Amino acid sequence: MCGIIGYTGNSQALPVLIQGIRLLSYRGYDSAGVSVWRAGALHVRRDPGRIEDLAPGWDPDALAGTTGVGHTRWATHGVPNRVNAHPHSDADGAVALVHNGIVENDLALRKELEADGVKFTSDTDTEVLAHLFARAFRGDPVAAARDLLRRCRGQFALAIQHRDLPHTLLAVRRGSPLLIGLGVRENLVASDLRPLVGRADRVLDMGEDEIAVVTPTTVELFDAAGAPVVREPRPVDHTEREIGKDGHAHFMLKEMHEQPHRLYELVASRVDSDGRLVRFDDVGIDDDAWRRFSRVDLVGAGTAYHACLYGAQVIETLARIPARAVMSHEYAAAQPVLGPDVLVIAVSQSGETMDTKVALEAALEGDAATLGVLNVRQSVIGRMAGGVMDLHAGPEISVASTKAHTSMLCALALLALKAAQARGVTSTPYGDIARALWALPDAVRMALADFGAAAEAARDVRRADHMLYLGRSWDSSTALEGALKMKEISYIHAEGYAAGELKHGPIALVSREVPTVAIVTPGRMRERMLGNVREVRAREGEILIVASKDDEEARFLADFVLPVPTLDERIAPIVNVVPLQVLAYETARLRGCDIDQPRNLAKTVTVQ
Ligand code: M6R
Repeated sequence: MCGIIGYTGNSQALPVLIQGIRLLSYRGYDSAGVSVWRAGALHVRRDPGRIEDLAPGWDPDALAGTTGVGHTRWATHGVPNRVNAHPHSDADGAVALVHNGIVENDLALRKELEADGVKFTSDTDTEVLAHLFARAFRGDPVAAARDLLRRCRGQFALAIQHRDLPHTLLAVRRGSPLLIGLGVRENLVASDLRPLVGRADRVLDMGEDEIAVVTPTTVELFDAAGAPVVREPRPVDHTEREIGKDGHAHFMLKEMHEQPHRLYELVASRVDSDGRLVRFDDVGIDDDAWRRFSRVDLVGAGTAYHACLYGAQVIETLARIPARAVMSHEYAAAQPVLGPDVLVIAVSQSGETMDTKVALEAALEGDAATLGVLNVRQSVIGRMAGGVMDLHAGPEISVASTKAHTSMLCALALLALKAAQARGVTSTPYGDIARALWALPDAVRMALADFGAAAEAARDVRRADHMLYLGRSWDSSTALEGALKMKEISYIHAEGYAAGELKHGPIALVSREVPTVAIVTPGRMRERMLGNVREVRAREGEILIVASKDDEEARFLADFVLPVPTLDERIAPIVNVVPLQVLAYETARLRGCDIDQPRNLAKTVTVQ
């Protein structure tokens, strides 16, 4: 979480830092701050709030200078106020330091520093780092940074300025990503690529426990022992450039509407129309490996975990390999039995989610085969995993994931088809699945065209405080995802259940005031779902049904129908989730919520 930007060159640093913070705000937006070196001093400005509101109040004269660091924060230690905002300094103001990640032994270090007379002004773990660095600095920044690496536990990325080093930035990386952008007579430091595009033409990925000393014309890399490190920079990928909303009111809306095209590209790149050829040469798993696997574990968090639930079912059903989904933050602690015959699939939009990275580390330690199903190939998880399947969903900016989610589901279905083929599973109806995959982009387009139905339902549910979402079998994970989308952006408390659970407890919640969303599309579970709907109806519960357009029975039972085209039930969840995205979006809009940057959340969760 949080975002780091640093600049040293010939231009004024402040506009570069502000623009960088803006582009990094998807990582956290509780507060922001900058520090700029000028005339032998570090000038710091930091405030709670969002950069759009803060930047106009930051005085360019007071913050004039050509070397500086900036930060946007997602609070972990201490409330989002001015004193907890970054940059943090020592008592003399000799150091300005910005930080992503968590220092795990901060309390012990804080006690030690306090015993030595240091007075803390914030509740953050970051301030510990600023004091430690200032005390360790005797003119050699690398030695002081090595001291930090020696004394601090946890995962962190740091950009540091020292008053005695006018045109120098120091970057330190452990666990959290940090990049050096190389430009013409200017260099930058950033926690991801986005703020570097347009200024840097090449980028240097910092390795684990490395230190970089950056000036406008030089970059020197060192390891934790102080030995120089040589690494070739890579060209900047310009597809990462800043993207706009293309006339949409919100990124979420734009990203929902991108889904048909993204799904088309994903399907077209992998499978021919009759499902005979499934191309997967690039993901690093050959047919022998597919035949060898005795189990597949899918790990992810939040929306990605919901994709894992679907993935486990589609892989087990089509490829006949035992498969399970595990929340990535629970994976290592559960001490899974691993080995080369187990495939661990890490599913992640960002490829930077710390919980998922830690799960992948456990898989690698256990000698399992690993695959990342990712939207950012050049990410921490992308670099660790044995193979990568790229979602190619394009940059997703809205905190609420939509197009990455449907691309994950589609990618996992394609992967299942490939695995089935490699294992020679004769029971799999390849043609049916391939046809459904090919029909998917149009089906999603049609579901989006029925925006008005979900919008009408939203006018009603906007007043609710609680909601229930129910689905069975293939759509039990759709129910979880629908509920997550609703609570995430509208702040309505929404619970998703496999509908078979209804009678085992949640039915106690059913009432006129608690709208229930039920997914009742054609398939083996339809009758049972209709049974659940009647149970809700009998208790006077309000009911919204995701159903086929021509489903008269659903129409008769429902207060609102959210229509979707009919698809093979194994692929249908990819379209069934779409009206639930729209329902959440419209409800949040009517409630006046900040849709793209909901409270307390961040797009990329890089702490455990
Ligand atoms: O980048 P990842 O896919 O690994 O992120 C995992 C979750 O943090 C993410 O899906 C989160 O649940 C979204 N905000 C959901 O909309």
